[in-house]
Amino acid sequence: MRRSLLLAAVLLGSIPSLALAQGGFRWPDNPKNIKVLPDSIRGQRLGQVMRGFTGALGVRCDHCHVGQGDLNTFDFASDDKPAKQKARVMLKMLQAINGTHLAELGEKRLTVTCTTCHRGLARPVPIEDVLEAALDSAGMDAATAKYDELRKRYYGGFAYNFARGPLTGLGERMAQKQKFAEAVKFLQLEIANNGEDVRTLLALGGAQVQSGDKDGAKASFDKALAIAPDNMKPMIQQQVDRMLKP
Ligand code: HEC
Ligand code: HEC
Repeated sequence: MRRSLLLAAVLLGSIPSLALAQGGFRWPDNPKNIKVLPDSIRGQRLGQVMRGFTGALGVRCDHCHVGQGDLNTFDFASDDKPAKQKARVMLKMLQAINGTHLAELGEKRLTVTCTTCHRGLARPVPIEDVLEAALDSAGMDAATAKYDELRKRYYGGFAYNFARGPLTGLGERMAQKQKFAEAVKFLQLEIANNGEDVRTLLALGGAQVQSGDKDGAKASFDKALAIAPDNMKPMIQQQVDRMLKP
């Protein structure tokens, strides 16, 4: 992909520029260290791209650039911050995705931008992986607390998926790893936040059986059967019978 096409992709992800009033900072008319963006980029155009980066990643300029406070004192040409180097790798990745791979799909295609993946996060980690990492490093209570904290902070935004699905998937993943107590907790967390549904209740019942809570399991299975569509009940009943078999 030509560098100018890359610029179009990066600008798509950015918010139209407002006059910048950050302590009278002026975007340079002669940037000194441009390696991936078009050589000709300067001034407001450069500003649009950079502010696009901050929005896409939910960070400020100092995430990638050396300096703090007043932008006029930053050394923007410096490559000392690893994140700046990584951002260049990302720009080249966008060039390949949009210019080579998506181009193969033909004329009318979507353009991938930083926001497509980052969704306002510096590292675009899905919520289930954030919670599993919290579990591994600090235990179940920490994982639950992490979920509540993220939900409070990000609910209604696009950073994390709080709809039904990720917690149930994580509960099922725990059960596959034979971590049944943790599976029960994540599935209960799903129900507490998003209500009951057949898949979650069946997974919960299965994990309860495995962790020795037969009564709990029966209650979960009964609820699943009660809300399942009629045409699925026989199949679910079979599945439940199999799971409850000693
Ligand atoms: C995600 C990382 C990232 C963020 C956040 C970011 N930049 Fe950049 N910036 C870069 C990269 C990468 C380049 C070099 C692009 C290239 O080599 O094509 C660059 C280049 C620049 C340059 C040109 C420097 C020169 O002389 O070569 C300026 C000025 C600049 N950024 C200002 C800003 C400002 C102001 C902000 C905050 C509003 C900001 N940047 C946020 C990654 C970032
Ligand atoms: C196809 C998805 C995707 C797109 C598009 C994408 N990124 Fe990334 N980016 C990632 C992933 C995944 C990681 C995390 C890699 C890791 O740390 O394991 C990452 C990591 C980064 C990091 C390093 C974060 C850190 O703190 O270590 C920076 C900086 C970054 N991306 C900037 C950008 C910028 C700027 C763009 C747009 C020009 C962009 N990314 C587009 C997926 C993407």
